[in-house]
Amino acid sequence: MAARMPRLLLITGCSQLLTLRGPVPRRGRALQDPQIISDGALLVRDGVILAVGPRRAIERAVEARRAKRLDLGGRVVLPGLVDSHTHLIFARSRVEDYAARIEGKTYEQIARAGGGILSSVRALRDAPVSALKKRARADLARFAAHGTTTLEAKSGYGLDALAELKTLRLLRELHHEQPLDIVSTFLGAHVVPPEFRGRANDYLDFLTRLLIPQVALEGLAEYCDVYCDRGAFNARQARRILNVGRECGLTPRIHAGQLSRAGGARLAVEVGAASADHLEHITRGDIRALAKSGVVATLLPGCEFHLGARDYAPARALIAAGAAVALATDYNPGTSPTLSLPMILSIACAQMRMTPAEAIAAATINPAYSLRRHTRIGSLEVGKYADAAVFDVADYREIPYYFGVNRCCLTLKQGNVIHSSLAADAEPLAP
Ligand code: NIG
Ligand code: FE
Repeated sequence: MAARMPRLLLITGCSQLLTLRGPVPRRGRALQDPQIISDGALLVRDGVILAVGPRRAIERAVEARRAKRLDLGGRVVLPGLVDSHTHLIFARSRVEDYAARIEGKTYEQIARAGGGILSSVRALRDAPVSALKKRARADLARFAAHGTTTLEAKSGYGLDALAELKTLRLLRELHHEQPLDIVSTFLGAHVVPPEFRGRANDYLDFLTRLLIPQVALEGLAEYCDVYCDRGAFNARQARRILNVGRECGLTPRIHAGQLSRAGGARLAVEVGAASADHLEHITRGDIRALAKSGVVATLLPGCEFHLGARDYAPARALIAAGAAVALATDYNPGTSPTLSLPMILSIACAQMRMTPAEAIAAATINPAYSLRRHTRIGSLEVGKYADAAVFDVADYREIPYYFGVNRCCLTLKQGNVIHSSLAADAEPLAP
């Protein structure tokens, strides 16, 4: 439950306040500058930032004198983290796939043997909504505990009308019932479901003629995604899905180049997708095309980490070419069962050579842009939501440095405390 904060709130004790003010989306050298204010402060009215700057200046504002004070005691403050790629709703873990991979089976071998995505589909179809909801609520509290204040979430473990709609309606309910903002994406084209085995084009007919229009009509999703890869859908099939989605008002996103170069990155540019995600298998030409476009290149290094793979996406080449890079968890039971963006930052820095500053921009303002929410979230600026993540570290670079340990000690969503491990300090003090 969110602890309601007073109407006027003055937040001080921010040893480093990373505002992420600046060009949107961030590209190239601009990714390097998180716009740090030392000994910063935020003045918040009704959940929206009224002023941000050095503490001494903010304290002089007339409203600051009437505000309740929340002193963070010298901690590092970032915009609330934005996770622009998750598969939040699933019924159970796939720990048996994990164990089989450790013993030498590959992700694709396991999928062909009946494990993989289709085993999550069977489990989700059988699961009562109440069980899915209980699991998702617990996960959302964990997202908040790791600093995430907005997340995208996809369907795609239903793959029939009943189970896809069950997922998307549950996401809508969750969005309204708990403090995190959830942005929904329809991923009916995740893989071909068992009842359409060998008839991929018939499944696409069902999606384009029936399910996508219904999802759009009910307002159940903002985005339409497709898994364009070996073992899923080819670029021609993916184009068909994304174009119909767009005609129905759903903006394209795409799973591209995770296992093979299937043309998904170029397709993202061609259809003007908000985001092309994964990108482990792309060419120099793909990199140039992405860099020249408005498509956000969303990297998901939790997958390589969890699968024990070495083919991390070429983050340095993408940044050097000028692509707008984002990082996301891809929280899902098969390839990336982490919901910790700080952990993703650690992997991105150590394995893809992103700098801590680049990684933070890639987990705040750039994913906010890819979700078309950048005027409200992703940076700490006047007029934006007071969504913030507070870390118990001395320097922001220690967030990826202390890998695997959650240093997020306070999370604010529109000025309300939605997670705190600082029980006593988290209450605003009298002015
Ligand atoms: O983004 N690759 C497709 N979708 C997910 C994996 C889903 C699963 O294995 O359950 C991904 O990695
Ligand atoms: Fe995914």
